This record gives sequence, C-alpha cells and structure tokens, in this order.
Amino acid sequence: MANLSILGTGNMGQAIAAIAAKGGHSVQQLGASDLGTAVTGDIVVLAVPYPAVSDVIAQRGEELAGKIVVDITNPLNFETFDSLVVPADGSAAAVIAEALPGSRVLKAFNTNFAGTLAAGTVGPLTTTVLIAGDDADAKSALAGVVTSGGLHAVDAGSLKRARELEAVGFLQLTLAANEKVSWTGGFGVVA
Ligand SMILES: NC(=O)c1ccc[n+]([C@@H]2O[C@H](COP(=O)([O-])OP(=O)(O)OC[C@H]3O[C@@H](n4cnc5c(N)ncnc54)[C@H](OP(=O)(O)O)[C@@H]3O)[C@@H](O)[C@H]2O)c1
Repeated sequence: MANLSILGTGNMGQAIAAIAAKGGHSVQQLGASDLGTAVTGDIVVLAVPYPAVSDVIAQRGEELAGKIVVDITNPLNFETFDSLVVPADGSAAAVIAEALPGSRVLKAFNTNFAGTLAAGTVGPLTTTVLIAGDDADAKSALAGVVTSGGLHAVDAGSLKRARELEAVGFLQLTLAANEKVSWTGGFGVVA
C-alpha cells in the first residue's frame, strides 16, 4: 500500500484521491488552508495551479525532500491561451525538479482531463496515465497506484519527456476550450 498526500482539493485532487482510495492506498488531502498540517505521504501530488506551485515549494520544500513529487500541471498562459509560461526547451516539471533537488519528481496526469480520471474511460478506452521521470522506482510506485485504481499507466520516459507531455496537455486544453473535443473526452492511448 502506498501513502499519498494530495495538495489541492479541486477537480484533479479529488479525482486522483478517488483513484488511490479505490486501489486501497491511504490518502491525505490538504487544501490551501491546511498550511500548518505536515505532509505524511511518500508520494505527494501537487494538484494546484502552476502559479501556486512556487508558493507550495516555498512553504513545503524541505518537507518534500526524500519524497516522490508528482507534477500534474499544465503551465498555460491562461490570459492568452496561446503559450506555455515555461521555457520552450524545458517544462514545469524541470523547473520543479530544479527547485526540489532532494525529491524524485514525476510528470503525470496532465494529459488527462479530471472527468476522464473520475470516469476511468475516454470514450471507449480505459483512461491511460502517462508518467515521465528519471527514477524507475518512483515511476513504478505511481504506476502501481494508477493501475490498482483501475486505470492504465504507461512509462513515457525520462523527465525530459515532460516537455512533450505538457505540449500534449496544452493542445488538448485548447481543443476543449474551442469545443473541438469535450472536457470528458480528449486523447486516449491504445497500447
Ligand atoms: N482540471 C483538469 O481537467 C486538469 C487536467 C490536467 C491537469 N490539470 C492541472 O491540475 C492542477 C489542478 O487543477 P484543478 O482543475 O484541480 O484546479 P481546481 O479545481 O481549481 O483546484 C485547485 C486547488 O488548488 C488549491 N490551491 C491553490 N493554491 C494552493 C496552495 N498554495 N496550497 C495548497 N493548495 C492550493 C485550491 O485550493 P482553494 O480552492 O482553497 O484555493 C484548489 O483546491 C492544475 O495545475 C491544472 O493545470 C487539470
């Protein structure tokens, strides 16, 4: 059994908590007002908007040392909906990994709309969570949570692939915002 802490109680935080609970894992959910509460999980999911991540790191950076930290953000410029706010040759995950040198940072869930995590399906397909990271054991631990919760997990490669995952998440968001796909649809993966 894994111990998860999920920072953020919004759409994604709740959907990921439900997957972990379904798989029999322990879940601690902390909201913005739970600053005084220590993080107890070994896997910490940052289910907050990208602009809030720097605050979380400033507040909890030392606490996150030694833990698996999962970045799920899509770091869009939400004013223009036309670019990412991270360097073109980098990613939010790379920025977070640099700020948390003592943590094993993974990129995951950013290519899944919350509705497809909650439903477990994208159209006729089982929802697949793409996981990128440099630590095989960390990826395997998160994949275990995902699959025990009834979804598929695919190792998407090293943390460098976060750049491509964020591009996919960006594209999917623009498609939904322009009503080309629904917020309960989006990209599926056939293995
Ligand atoms: N929604 C999707 O389908 C989707 C898909 C892929 C990726 N994502 C990514 O997932 C992340 C969360 O999205 P969401 O849709 O779940 O957003 P959301 O429903 O707006 O929830 C955001 C949560 O973050 C909390 N929060 C904000 N600042 C915080 C802080 N400093 N410390 C702790 N918690 C804080 C908020 O708490 P309060 O309500 O108390 O402010 C809220 O619980 C974003 O980075 C987004 O890009 C979303």
